[in-house]
Amino acid sequence: MKLDFYVLCGVAMLASKVWGASSPDISSCPALTPRTTPPKDITDLRPDDIKVLGALGDSIMAGYVMMGVTSSLDPKALEEFRGQSYAIGSDANAITLPNFMNHYQPIKKGSSVGTHFVTTCNIIGDSCSQSQYRPNQDYLNGALSGAMAFNLQVELGYVLSRMKTISGLDVQNDWKMITLQIGSNDQCASCNTSHSSKVTAEQYGANVEAAVQLIQSQSPKTIVNIIGAFNVSQVFPLSQQSGLKYCRMTNNDPSTIKNLKECSCHADADHKSMDDLAASYNQQLITIANKYKAQPGGTFAVVYRPANINIMSFPIDALSNYDCFHPSQKGHQWMAKIAWNMLFLPSNKQPGIYNFDANQQVMNSTQKRRTIHSFDHFPPP
Ligand SMILES: *[C@@H]1O[C@H](CO)[C@@H](O)[C@H](O)[C@H]1NC(C)=O
Ligand SMILES: *[C@@H]1O[C@H](CO)[C@@H](O)[C@H](O)[C@H]1NC(C)=O
Ligand SMILES: *[C@@H]1O[C@H](CO)[C@@H](O)[C@H](O)[C@H]1NC(C)=O
Repeated sequence: MKLDFYVLCGVAMLASKVWGASSPDISSCPALTPRTTPPKDITDLRPDDIKVLGALGDSIMAGYVMMGVTSSLDPKALEEFRGQSYAIGSDANAITLPNFMNHYQPIKKGSSVGTHFVTTCNIIGDSCSQSQYRPNQDYLNGALSGAMAFNLQVELGYVLSRMKTISGLDVQNDWKMITLQIGSNDQCASCNTSHSSKVTAEQYGANVEAAVQLIQSQSPKTIVNIIGAFNVSQVFPLSQQSGLKYCRMTNNDPSTIKNLKECSCHADADHKSMDDLAASYNQQLITIANKYKAQPGGTFAVVYRPANINIMSFPIDALSNYDCFHPSQKGHQWMAKIAWNMLFLPSNKQPGIYNFDANQQVMNSTQKRRTIHSFDHFPPP
C-alpha cells in the first residue's frame, strides 16, 4: 500500500527517495481503464466519474492579477485570469485541477476560461453582485474578487442557476464537485472594527454552512470540496524582506507594496490575531465536514482539505509582482498540484504543512483511488 500511495506521475520510481527529483507532468500518468459499473455512491468516485466542476471563492480563485505587470499602468493589473485559476481554470495547456481531470476524461463542464476585467465586491457592506459575472467565461467559477464568506450566497445564486443552462450538463444525474476556498479577505477585515463582527469564526462557520445547505438543496450528487484557510499574513514578511526588488511600485520603496493597502491587518504587530482567526476558521470547516461527511449509499458530502500553506516558503515570484498579495501563475500552478493531490490523500496522510516545491509532483489517479479520503474509504492494501 505504501508503494501504491507514493507512486507519482513523471517520476522514475527507482526508489521512493527520488520522488522530488524529476519534472512533474500529468501527461505521463497512465489512463484509467473505464469503469464497467457506475460508482455505487459518493464514497466510490474516481476523478473520471466527476462530470462537472464548480468553484466558490475570492480573487485568488478568480485568478486576479496572476500574470503580473510590466509597469504600474499595465492593464493586466485589472484582469482576472479565470482560465488559469488553479482549481477551476481550463485554458488550453494551463496547469490546473480541471486540466488534470481532463487527462482522464475529455469533458469537464463548468470550468472557467479566458480573462476578464476585474470587478470587486466593495468590502464596505455586502455589494457583491451577480452583474459581475461573465457567464461565457466564468461558467461555474462563482468566485468574486473581494468576496468574504458572507458573500457565498450571491456566488451560489449565480452558480446554481448557471448550472441549469450549460448544455449537456445533467443537474440531476451528473456527479459534481464544487471547490470552495474563502477566508483571506475575512482575515484581512478582522482588524477593522467596522467589519470585525462580520468575520468572527462563528460567522464564518455559519456562512459556509449556509452555503453547504444551499448546495445540498439544489445540487444533487455533489462533493463540496473545501480547501482550508491559510495564514495570509505571511505575505507581509515575505515581501518586506530587505534587498528584494519586487512588487515595490515606487522607487523600490517597501512602503509602496500594494498588499499593505489590500489588507487592513498589515499594521498589526505580529499578525497573530489573523493567524489565530485562520486556525479557528479551519476548526469551523472541520465541524462542518464532519456534520456532512460522506455516508455509505449517500450522494452528497463535504470534504475538508487542510491547506496549511507556508507562504514563507514561497519564492517571491510565486506572488504577483503587482501586489505581493495574490499568487502569480507560478503560485497557482503549484496550488493546482497540491489541490489535485489533496483529492487522494486520506486525512491522516495529509502533509501537516505545505512548503512550496518547484518540482512538485502530481499523484496518479489509479483504479483504486477514490476522492473521498476518509480512512475507511482509502483503498485497502
Ligand atoms: C503512476 O505513473 C507512473 C508514470 O508517471 C507509472 O510508471 C506508474 O505505473 C503509475 N502507477 C499506477 C499505479 O498507475
Ligand atoms: C475600516 O473600515 C472603514 C469602513 O469600511 C474604512 O472607512 C476604513 O478605511 C477602514 N480602516 C482601515 C484601517 O482599513
Ligand atoms: C500559521 O500561523 C500560526 C501562528 O502564527 C503558526 O503557528 C503556524 O505554524 C502557521 N502555519 C504555517 C503553515 O506556517
